This record gives sequence, C-alpha cells and structure tokens, in this order.
Amino acid sequence: MNNSIEANKVKASMSRGSFATALGAFVATLGSAVGLGNIWKFPYLTGANGGAAFIIIYVISTLLVGLPVMMAEIMLGRKARANAIATMNKLSPSKRQPWWVIGAMGALAAFLIMAFYSEVAGWVVAYIFKSSFGSILSTNPEVTSQAFSTLVVDPIQSLFWQWLVLAVVCVILVRGVSKGIEATTKRLIPLLFVLLLIVDIRSLTLPGAGEGIKFLFSPDFSKITAAAVLTALGLAFFKLSIGMGTMITYGSYWPDGQNIPTSTARVMFSDLLVSILAGLAIFPAVFAFGYEPGAGPSLLFITIPSVFASMPFGNIFMVLFFLLAAVAATGAMISLVEVPVAFLNEQFKMSRSKATVLTTVAIAVFGSSAALSNSLLAGVQLFGMNLFDLYDFVSSNILLPLGGLLIVIFVGWFWGDDKVKAALSNNGSLKNQAIIAAYTVIVKFVTPLLVLVVMLRGLNLLPF
Ligand code: TRP
Repeated sequence: MNNSIEANKVKASMSRGSFATALGAFVATLGSAVGLGNIWKFPYLTGANGGAAFIIIYVISTLLVGLPVMMAEIMLGRKARANAIATMNKLSPSKRQPWWVIGAMGALAAFLIMAFYSEVAGWVVAYIFKSSFGSILSTNPEVTSQAFSTLVVDPIQSLFWQWLVLAVVCVILVRGVSKGIEATTKRLIPLLFVLLLIVDIRSLTLPGAGEGIKFLFSPDFSKITAAAVLTALGLAFFKLSIGMGTMITYGSYWPDGQNIPTSTARVMFSDLLVSILAGLAIFPAVFAFGYEPGAGPSLLFITIPSVFASMPFGNIFMVLFFLLAAVAATGAMISLVEVPVAFLNEQFKMSRSKATVLTTVAIAVFGSSAALSNSLLAGVQLFGMNLFDLYDFVSSNILLPLGGLLIVIFVGWFWGDDKVKAALSNNGSLKNQAIIAAYTVIVKFVTPLLVLVVMLRGLNLLPF
C-alpha cells in the first residue's frame, strides 16, 4: 500500500518534470541567476553609480533581501511541486486569501522583462556576428555609437535578432525540464566561466588596468542617493531572478533531499562571483584606454567595442566576450519563459510543446514593442521613458520588489514557522537550527522592512 503511494508520487513527479540531480538543480538555478544582469546591467549600473560604493550596497541587498527571498521561493515551490500561481493557491492557509496574485503579477513581470531582455540578447547575438566580420570595431566611440544606432533604429534588424533569440529559447524549452533546461545549463555554465576567465586575463594584464580595479573596489559613498539604493535593490532582485515566481517554478523541480540554505547561498555567491569577474573584464580595459565608465545601458555596445578595438587581437576577444554574454543570457531567458510555460502546461493541461510555442509567440508579439521602441515606436513615451526603459523600470523597481515583499510576508507571517522549519531542515534531517532561527527573524522583520522603506523612498513616496 505504501509502495503504491510512493510509486504514484514518483509517477506524478515524473510527469511534471524535475531536475535529475542536486548538481543539476544547482546549475540550472545558477543558470537562471547568471545572465545579462551580470554582463550588461551590473557593469553599466556600477559605472553610472560611481563604482565600489554601489557594489557594497548591492551586496548588502543580496544578503539581507536577495538570499532570504530566494530561499522562500525555492521552499514554497518544492513544497507545492506546482507552477507559481498554483503553488501560492495550494499553500495559502485559506482559500479566501488571494496569494495567487503574486503568481499572476509574476507572469506579467515575466512578459515585461522578456520584452526588453530578448531585445538586448538580440543585440548581443548581432554583435557576435558583426564583430566576427570586424564591421563594428573602431577606436573612435563616435563610430561605434553610430554602428549601434544603425542597429537599434532599424526595425527589421531589431525584430530579426529578437525573434531569432526567442526561437532558440523555444527549442530548448520544448525539450523539457531535465533534457532541456538542466542539460543546456550544464553545458553553458562551465563554458561561461572559461570565456570569462580568458577575457579577464586579457583585461587585467593591460597597462593601466589598475584604475579600473580601484574603481571597482574603493568606495566613494558621496555618489549614493536614495534612487541609487533602490536601483541596487532592484538589481539584487533582477540578478537572483526573484520576486516573480521563477524561483518558485524552479524550486518545484528541486529534489527533496537538497539542502535549501546551502544550495541557495552557493547560487548567490557564484552569481556574485560572475558579476565581479564581468566587472574585472570590463572596467580595467575601459580605464586602460581612457574611456568613461558611466555610459549607461550602451556601455556594452558602444564603449566596449571601442575598448576592444584599442587592444591587440581585439576582435577575437570581442567575439568571445559577446559569445559569453549570449551564453549567460540563454540560461536566464529559459527560466523567465518557463514560468508561463509551466502554468499553461499544468493549469490548462496543454502539452509542453504547445505551451512553449504559444508563450514564445506571445512574447515575440508583445516584445516587438520593446524592439521597436527606438524606431517606429520611439514617440511612445511614458513618465519620460520609452517602452524599453519603462518595462525595465516597472519590472525591476516595482513589480519584483513588490512580489518579493509579498512572498516574505507570506512565508514569515502566514505560512507557519513549523512549515518553514520543516522545509529548511528537510523535515528535521539537517541539523541547522541556528540558520533556521536566524532566517525566521530576517524573513519576518529585516527583509520586509528594508524592501518597503527602500521602495517607498526610492519612488519618492516618503515625506523625508
Ligand atoms: N537573473 C537574470 C539576469 O541576471 C535575469 C532573470 C532570469 C530574471 N529570470 C528572472 C530576472 C526572473 C527577474 C526575474 O540576467
């Protein structure tokens, strides 16, 4: 009798897919965290916000907010073994509490993020090709700037590269959780580290690299404003793929015996390492050739090509650099798209292939508005932002922190301390009471308060 219950459970979990091994779960989760956030956002935000001081605030945000939210999401998903919306529904203590709203908000955020993310990934892929043919390399930033503008104002090219990227994501996801997500990230993550180390060595051995290292590691706190703190917090959410149900969905594929506190902490530290390595690939080279680090989102596409053009064999390193950015972006995008795919697949009993194709096509259609935000739709502005910037701002600085806030409030105040304890200790088999005790306090008080204050202050909603 017990055996047949077990057998049924195994069958059920096989039919909904899961990561085959603990290592696979770790690598897939890291693959979600690592992405354009490390290679594009982290460097340009660090550059625009003055360097080391911003990084310190970012690190504090990942420790006190990022890690607790990631643990919360993974444990909820693993407990419910369902997509993000169904997870919140299932675990809600009463059917009258609408916690599923977190999942629904998450699906909205997934669309907003994918819209601009797939466009940036498209530029990255375009740059792999363009730098292979040397057509965009010039030591003159005006020339590289011109090359970038030519790309982004061309509606056909913009759509072409974005849709190409989405097609790749679709092909991977159709293959399923273990054969698609897990197998792909297992190959990509080691490749990413190798490429990153090669570019790092090149950058760090340039004469004059020291300035860039100083920029990354010696803080100047006078540059930090309330808006910069909100940006650092938003980056922590974006970087760790939290606040919208990605980690709930991935947690639902984690093996039962996996140690949640240590595995999530490893993901967080590895992700931070990738960001620092990306910073070390970029800033020493930027300073060595006398460029400015504060270019904003175009740092990667205007400044970096000039930097590479200034060094011997620069075009080879530039191809490697954009290749590694594309590799990083892939693991992140499949995790974003998996949220609606898992939902359609389970909730509407739709086949995985159908759910994946439907989701990618919907993202391609909606995402076109971001791809065309520099050309046909350049006139569409809201709050002084074009659609591309608006999607980024609303998701990173509003939806993700809000989602994260609700998730920690749920785990800290509504789900029950005994359930948290059981989830984090694997029903008592791990002896980690001290960690659990600290977690309970942080998730109840520290994380929600920090998110709330930083959000309200950063959005100018507080009187001081
Ligand atoms: N973390 C990824 C990056 O840094 C982006 C990402 C993937 C993401 N999944 C997410 C961001 C879910 C927010 C929510 O590039």
